[in-house]
Amino acid sequence: MQDVIRVENLTKKYKDVIAVDGVNFTIKKGTCFGLLGPNGAGKTTTIEIMEGIIKASEGQVYYYDKAINAAMSQQIGIQFQHTALQDFLSVQETLNLFTSFYQHTIAISELVELCDLSEFLNRDNRLLSGGQRQRLLLALALINDPDIVFLDEPTTGLDPQARRNFWQLIKNIKARDKTVVLTTHYMDEAQQLCDDVLIMDHGKVIARGSPRQLLNQHFQEVFISLPAIQVPDALVEHYGWHINAQQVEITTADVEATLSLLLAKKISLTGLHIKSPNLDDLFLKLTGHSLRD
Ligand SMILES: Nc1ncnc2c1ncn2[C@@H]1O[C@H](COP(=O)(O)OP(=O)(O)O)[C@@H](O)[C@H]1O
Ligand SMILES: [Mg+2]
Repeated sequence: MQDVIRVENLTKKYKDVIAVDGVNFTIKKGTCFGLLGPNGAGKTTTIEIMEGIIKASEGQVYYYDKAINAAMSQQIGIQFQHTALQDFLSVQETLNLFTSFYQHTIAISELVELCDLSEFLNRDNRLLSGGQRQRLLLALALINDPDIVFLDEPTTGLDPQARRNFWQLIKNIKARDKTVVLTTHYMDEAQQLCDDVLIMDHGKVIARGSPRQLLNQHFQEVFISLPAIQVPDALVEHYGWHINAQQVEITTADVEATLSLLLAKKISLTGLHIKSPNLDDLFLKLTGHSLRD
């Protein structure tokens, strides 16, 4: 697969902070690429340099092997983390207005379908719900039928249902063979949508790969939990298990052996859960702090 974007030694220094610190990666055509990390990790700075919005202090971004340039703006679509919409315009009028900014555009009817806007086309921008607003902003990012779409935390602050709806739209876009670059601090979102992820912390890359690869590479174990009331304290102590929120938590690479042990000790398995590690667990393992801190 062809690389659409190549980022080499990208660095952005502000007066007293290195927002992005020597980052390298490539993005393959037609994939969904996730830039992950907590607030302040450097996601927005990285994506805005890729979009040509801000300049790097060092390093270079290549778009189909050419250094990024002004002409690119016709070929990319951007959904900013914070965007002001014009007051007193309806969704339909906003789409019409943005269509006039570009030479080549996608039919508005197609956008309405793709981003599921039909229910609120005549509504004033100010009256949109959070999820509707993000759907409109996504449509605006797609208006010039770009090859590549940049979405900076598109689902932050949405309720779970609205987030799920938005995920479906991103899948629709991917199905049209577009490349999607997404930032998020929701690890479940990245796991659902992204073919490849780059996890950042304090401006540096701490992990890179497909979610599956990364999890296989860093974890042999799974997590077993069961109600603490079913497990004698002496046993918990003997095996060094953890108790958290009235659950005994057992980390094990050998599920059969652990279950056999519990059965041999006559412990009830009622309410037992087995959980595979996810990207949140990976972040915790790599940094020693959890993502929401
Ligand atoms: N214009 C700026 N001037 C000074 N510092 C900035 C500026 N923009 C971002 N930063 C700092 O750079 C770091 C990375 O910010 P950002 O890229 O917005 O992170 P993220 O999007 O992952 O939350 C933060 O410490 C932030 O405070
Ligand atoms: Mg940001």
